Amino acid sequence: MDGSYLPVLIMAAIGVTGFGMTVVSFVIMRRRGGKGQAIRPVADGLRSLLRRLTVVGGLLCVLFFAGVVLLLVLGRTNAQKHTRESLKQQYAAIADRRDSSQTSSSGAFDPVEHAKAIGYSDDEIQSVPQGVICLGCGNPIAVAGLKEGETVVDLGSGAGFDAFLAARKVGPKGKVIGVDMTAEMVAKATESARKGNCQNVLFKVGEIEHLPLEDDSIDVAISNCVVNHCPDKLAAFKEIRRCLKPKGRIVIADLVVVGTFPAEVLEDKTWGKWLAVASEKQEYLEAVGKAGFKGIAVVSERASPTAQKNERLRGRIISIVVKACK
Ligand SMILES: C[S@@+](CC[C@H](N)C(=O)[O-])C[C@H]1O[C@@H](n2cnc3c(N)ncnc32)[C@H](O)[C@@H]1O
Repeated sequence: MDGSYLPVLIMAAIGVTGFGMTVVSFVIMRRRGGKGQAIRPVADGLRSLLRRLTVVGGLLCVLFFAGVVLLLVLGRTNAQKHTRESLKQQYAAIADRRDSSQTSSSGAFDPVEHAKAIGYSDDEIQSVPQGVICLGCGNPIAVAGLKEGETVVDLGSGAGFDAFLAARKVGPKGKVIGVDMTAEMVAKATESARKGNCQNVLFKVGEIEHLPLEDDSIDVAISNCVVNHCPDKLAAFKEIRRCLKPKGRIVIADLVVVGTFPAEVLEDKTWGKWLAVASEKQEYLEAVGKAGFKGIAVVSERASPTAQKNERLRGRIISIVVKACK
């Protein structure tokens, strides 16, 4: 038997024992209550023992329920950690692949065609350092209105595609910080910055939920197809807001889902991991609002071209670009 069941079995044994003790003691006590004076000393002794057993049984029951809650919480946290680790491995493998044309598990991924399909111009695609591919789902740069001198963070920067485009817009007086949880992606993006002599962009390893950034330090947070991976989107948006200057803004391209999916789709190699934590549009926008953002607007919305190729997902995965400010 899988060792992970052991705590559950122990908790169940404690709970059943406690419940049994409580019920049996209670029933016996009620029966003894009607007996006559002759057996009273014995009945009193027994009664006190039964009372104690009832209390101990009750305590064991409480322990059981507390344990069940703890196991559920720990189980969920472990499952999330596991999902994140396997996601990192997936993106590390993409970063380490030399031939970027084979990025998709289907082997049919063409990075240039993909970038065009999600809204980048030829000029944008050609302006990033050689070999930097886009794994996003929209074009946040097109609507971010980036100005010279601004400080930008690209959340989940991957190979750095949007970070490099943003660096061009903010110019030498501005700065772009790419943050990504996958060290291999950060290493690859850093190498591309070095080769492309891009001096106003740097990349850091970090998670959106715990950004390696000061409070109130960023003018614009852009992101492309990343927050959808976060199980706790509200926590992610609160953390993003913390780093923005007053009146700072977010421009986030992301995927949202329509409805729920059957088990066989949730087990899909490419889509399953994030479908398990993906949100519907309304829920996603509510998280943005609850985090304290104002002026929330969906500035573009269309079916994800990548998902459209999969008949089980067609029309059910939507690419949106959301703008809001602190
Ligand atoms: C779909 S790719 C998009 C990469 C990039 N934004 C682009 O458009 O090419 C998702 C990236 O987000 C990163 N990522 C996913 N969840 C993250 C999190 N919670 N914190 C930081 N990075 C994350 C992954 O490592 C991966 O590089």
